[in-house]
Amino acid sequence: YAPPRALWASRLGFILAAAGSAVGLGNIWKFPYITGQNGGGAFVLVYLVCIAVVGLPIMMAELMIGRHTRKDAVGAFIHLEGKRSFWQAPGWISVAAAFIICSYYSVVAGWTLDYLYRALLGSFSGQSAENIEGLFGGLTADGPRQLLWHFLFMSLCLGIVIGGVQKGIERWSKILMPILLALLALLFMNGLLSPGAWEGITFLFRPDFTKLTPAAVLEAMGHAFFTLSLGMAAMITYGSYLSKQEDLLGASLRVVVLDTVIALMAGIAIFSVVFSVGMEPAAGPGLVFKTIPVVFSQLPGGFVLAILFFLLLAFAALTSNISLLEASVAYLIDERGWSRPRATWFLAGLAFVVGIPTALSYNTLAEWKVIGDRVFFDSVDMLVSNYFLPFSGLFISIYVGWFWSGTEEKQELIAGGAGWVYPTWHFLIRYVSPLAVAVVLFFKMKETGLFAWFAALLQ
Ligand code: PHE
Ligand code: NA
Repeated sequence: YAPPRALWASRLGFILAAAGSAVGLGNIWKFPYITGQNGGGAFVLVYLVCIAVVGLPIMMAELMIGRHTRKDAVGAFIHLEGKRSFWQAPGWISVAAAFIICSYYSVVAGWTLDYLYRALLGSFSGQSAENIEGLFGGLTADGPRQLLWHFLFMSLCLGIVIGGVQKGIERWSKILMPILLALLALLFMNGLLSPGAWEGITFLFRPDFTKLTPAAVLEAMGHAFFTLSLGMAAMITYGSYLSKQEDLLGASLRVVVLDTVIALMAGIAIFSVVFSVGMEPAAGPGLVFKTIPVVFSQLPGGFVLAILFFLLLAFAALTSNISLLEASVAYLIDERGWSRPRATWFLAGLAFVVGIPTALSYNTLAEWKVIGDRVFFDSVDMLVSNYFLPFSGLFISIYVGWFWSGTEEKQELIAGGAGWVYPTWHFLIRYVSPLAVAVVLFFKMKETGLFAWFAALLQ
């Protein structure tokens, strides 16, 4: 006896869950800091183009694959081919990426819990900028403290995912996402009302193409993948719980637009206050964990703003990480016949353990933590975001663009939208996305020394 497969209870539930996956640390932490590092406006423009011509078509392709096969990412490709084949590779790569990212995303999410706790204690106010910036180094040097938060965060994810699709993920997305939007709206208004608002907005939206390097273009493309949760089995899995009656283009558009608008709003909320107190927008990863607490310590109402901000980050991270956990849990349930509780306990536990070296490695002090000249954390992140994600994205777009007949799914697009929708999507998924992703992959391999490594190996 096989129980009928779970489906989302409502369309809103799906959109909130999928947007919950998409909207994460990538929007509120990473997007603002890489925009800051890459000089603002021109980078944002390239990023928006990548979202539209590569992100959206691949998001649709992943949801189509999931909904068509009603399987986890590995099972989806077995089902499509009717047998085990080479095309399982993207499924495997995505599930592996989901699991690995789940393990270290939780570590970073743990930092946001730590900062939320400090904000609640009011420990930023009345401190010097130096002391506040020093807190981050203190935290990442403190193994047990990080592991405690990592443990707590992973336990929250476990508690939600174990409840299943409707009673866990959908229910919690419906609670957490509206709160997230309200928090962001408050911080956004605060940004607009602050003296640095105009400077923040011009920084984000006035393109200065002299600042646009080729590396920035690659980064924009990679981030478009990460921010939409693509190449990580998450959208295939969430798509597999989507009803066949649902309008797939409409749902994808809503998720992509929400993700993009939220990233831009977060950018305005952050840069406005950063400029208000005359601080640097290009602080890198420390933008959120060093600059922002200093900014809030100097602003009126900063005590409350800091609480709102770190709560926002924590909620964003939570709804993203549950989708990563669910993507791997679905694999064990669908392909290995595990029960949901068993799969969830096992994978959340394993992801916690795998996350331990990441947590302990962020601080560069000890030798054993270093692989080459990188800390372990960066090596894992580099490997997954520069290779795994583009690899599976490339395979998925080639498969859907060239090999998959996907008749019903394609028919729906042809019948449902305006006449130009299907040809446009098909052109993008067949030519534009594979080419763009292949170029990124090639240059990333070059940049990270993979070719040199191979050449050395062959000598
Ligand atoms: N999209 C999330 C973010 O922007 C990250 C993520 C990737 C979540 C893949 C789930 C799956 O932070
Ligand atoms: Na995102």
